[in-house]
Amino acid sequence: MESSKGNDFFVIKALENGVNVIGLTRGSDTRFHHSEKLDKGEVMIAQFTEHTSAVKVRGKAVIQTSHGEITTTD
Ligand code: TRP
Repeated sequence: MESSKGNDFFVIKALENGVNVIGLTRGSDTRFHHSEKLDKGEVMIAQFTEHTSAVKVRGKAVIQTSHGEITTTD
C-alpha cells in the first residue's frame, strides 16, 4: 500500500485565477473530498495520501510530478 502512495510531492502552479485542485478519495468509493481554489501565481504542493489517490485539476496550470511536467490548456 505504501508504494502506491509514495512520498513524492507534486506541484501545481495556477496560470489564471480560479484554478481548482480537486482531491479524489482512495478506495472503491471514488468521490471529491477536497477542492482548493488557486489564484494566478499561487502554488500548491501536495502528496498522494491514504485519503487521496487521484487529483483533478480544472483550469490553466502547470503541474510538476516525478513523471514530468504538464501544462493544461483551455
Ligand atoms: N486531507 C487531504 C489528505 O490528507 C489533504 C490532501 C493531500 C489533498 N493531498 C491532496 C487535497 C491533494 C487535495 C489534493 O489526503
